[in-house]
Amino acid sequence: MFIESPRYTERFGSVRMNHVQRVISLDSGVKSKLPPHGAMGVVKIDEETIKYFEDRMAIVIPVKDEKLKLFEGVVSGVPHDCLVIVVSNSQREKVDRFRMEGDALDQLCRFTFRQALIAHQRDPAIAEAMVEAGYDDLLGEDGLVRDGKSEAMVIGLLLAKAAGKEYIGFVDADNYFPGAVLEYVRNYAAGFSLAQSPYSMVRILWHYKPKISGGLYFRKWGRVSEITNKHLNNLISSKTGFETEVVRTGNAGEHAMSMKLAEILPYASGYAVEPQELVSIFEDFGGILPTKNIKVMEQGIDIFQVETRNPHLHEEKGDEHLQAMLLSALGTIYHSRLCGEEAKQAILAELVHQGALKGEETPPPIHINAPPKKVIASKFITAIQRDLDKYYVLR
Ligand code: GDP
Ligand code: CO
Repeated sequence: MFIESPRYTERFGSVRMNHVQRVISLDSGVKSKLPPHGAMGVVKIDEETIKYFEDRMAIVIPVKDEKLKLFEGVVSGVPHDCLVIVVSNSQREKVDRFRMEGDALDQLCRFTFRQALIAHQRDPAIAEAMVEAGYDDLLGEDGLVRDGKSEAMVIGLLLAKAAGKEYIGFVDADNYFPGAVLEYVRNYAAGFSLAQSPYSMVRILWHYKPKISGGLYFRKWGRVSEITNKHLNNLISSKTGFETEVVRTGNAGEHAMSMKLAEILPYASGYAVEPQELVSIFEDFGGILPTKNIKVMEQGIDIFQVETRNPHLHEEKGDEHLQAMLLSALGTIYHSRLCGEEAKQAILAELVHQGALKGEETPPPIHINAPPKKVIASKFITAIQRDLDKYYVLR
């Protein structure tokens, strides 16, 4: 593929945050000559390079009671060499939707000779493995993993680690276009290939032009993400003293990380998870607060934001969901150790203005799951590997 070269990189401490790069063309052929790196501001990412990263990447698909057709479409869009890991929280009583997902996955894998993992978030064996590994952050009062997409992401991450993967990407199960899924993963690979540091992240910016139906909904979604980005940028400017608009992907559900980075980040519950990743990176490596991780600081963290060619269309979840999303997204910034009084006031004013808070209220505290590095990985892997076979669709 051809992609804009990272034209401008902003640095905060040891974080290198790249401005949005657009995909110029989805394919770059085998014959086309490689332009001199960076000439005309375009980079060619050849197929071999993309395949190299795909082979080392797990794609985690969190799913909760989505339409089966959508789920199947998403799986069919994931490049063949990636390991698909489905973490489901779908219902099991009456209609066993989890079973249906497993069957659909099994069939796709049989047709195409590929391997995949599927686990239920509330499976007691997963909770037990977590306890054995000394990591009970994800567990609720009933001793099982709590509900939530973020919790599913951490399970996926640990399974990817158990399967020996070096990169992990997330793709939502409610995407309408399999071709867009294919592109997301190729964009992840492109980003990783441009990274200088072993600690890297790629976030997707959708290119959407909704016209037919749901136009209003998309505008509102666009508003939510604009507001999140604005306050993330504010947080940065308030510390550096320079205005910036570098952050464009605060709420990006579609994103990927090197395993090395993924395991040292904390994961906030609920819709706070994606913005919290950035907030935590700025806190830990932005050079303002002391870091606990000198080694990472030395190598730096590369963040890429890639704007897709494909439009994005996913299930509509309604307005209430958007309010909740805004509240938790801005909550992550509000509760950050980096957030000064002025930035806090701006967030409160915004939330009141958007009708997400009343005058005197403040954003509720956010539950943050400790970095998975805290998991005694060897113990988790031993515990889960006793059972790992059970999670593979093709046994
Ligand atoms: P949005 O895309 O950010 O508006 O949020 P969605 O509600 O669409 O959720 C994103 C993805 O996470 C979808 O694939 C959902 O099916 C999935 N999801 C949502 N909640 C949960 C959960 O509790 N557990 C799991 N495993 N997946 C979830
Ligand atoms: Co969605």
